[in-house]
Amino acid sequence: MKLLVDKKGRKHLVEGEKFQTDLGIVDLNSAADVAKSHLGHEFYVLNPKLIDIYEKMPRSGSFILKKDLGAILAYTGVGSGDVVVDAGTGSGALALFLANIVKPNGRVYTYEINEKFAEIARKNIEKAGLQEYIELKIKDIAEGIKEKNVDLVTLDLEEPWKVFAHAKNALKRGGFIAIYTPYIEHAKRTVEVLREESFKSIKTLELLERELEFREKGTRPRTRMLGHTAYITFARKY
Ligand SMILES: C[S@@+](CC[C@H](N)C(=O)[O-])C[C@H]1O[C@@H](n2cnc3c(N)ncnc32)[C@H](O)[C@@H]1O
Repeated sequence: MKLLVDKKGRKHLVEGEKFQTDLGIVDLNSAADVAKSHLGHEFYVLNPKLIDIYEKMPRSGSFILKKDLGAILAYTGVGSGDVVVDAGTGSGALALFLANIVKPNGRVYTYEINEKFAEIARKNIEKAGLQEYIELKIKDIAEGIKEKNVDLVTLDLEEPWKVFAHAKNALKRGGFIAIYTPYIEHAKRTVEVLREESFKSIKTLELLERELEFREKGTRPRTRMLGHTAYITFARKY
């Protein structure tokens, strides 16, 4: 697989030897760092990183965005060798970023209740080459978590509080739980049930992203920003 970037900055993930765009046909057999289409247009040829696969991968529904993925990784300190339980898988975005960090000796167990979504996620995981580090389970996580001594549980599903008691059993002491809830009522219920379950160091965040524009006239933030996506609540088992 290659990543082709054209003169307009558009990115194309290409599998196979030939690639066709409005800028012509590119033969990747003869491609070096820069490839030329039969119409003479140039493309940078790169090896794709996980972020390139994430940006192009098919989605089954709502999707965790980069600002929130980064926060989950940073605020839990998840690292190489860790064992993570994730639900629901959805298209697999969070599972992929977790696996990319816990590999080569760690593992991500990701639960998805919907077989069709699981199939999309399975293909995304294979495309990213991370299938060795992710076990995709077609299972309702509210029925229980089999894994033990888990370092991190991540939940992005409706009524996450139904899973907190199972998560507590699965987590090792010091382990983290991260819960992604789009609505404030759900964030509130999340915190209440985490307290009832004696989770500690409970903290809820919302991240907003503002990109800068550099123009001849001057430098300023873009008018449009990436505003609310979800509240992320973090807690630990002591
Ligand atoms: C918003 S999506 C998750 C997106 C995902 N975290 C990502 O990074 O792309 C929520 C998913 O949870 C799944 N789901 C809902 N309840 C579930 C349950 N009890 N057990 C497992 N999966 C569940 C849904 O089918 C849906 O695919």
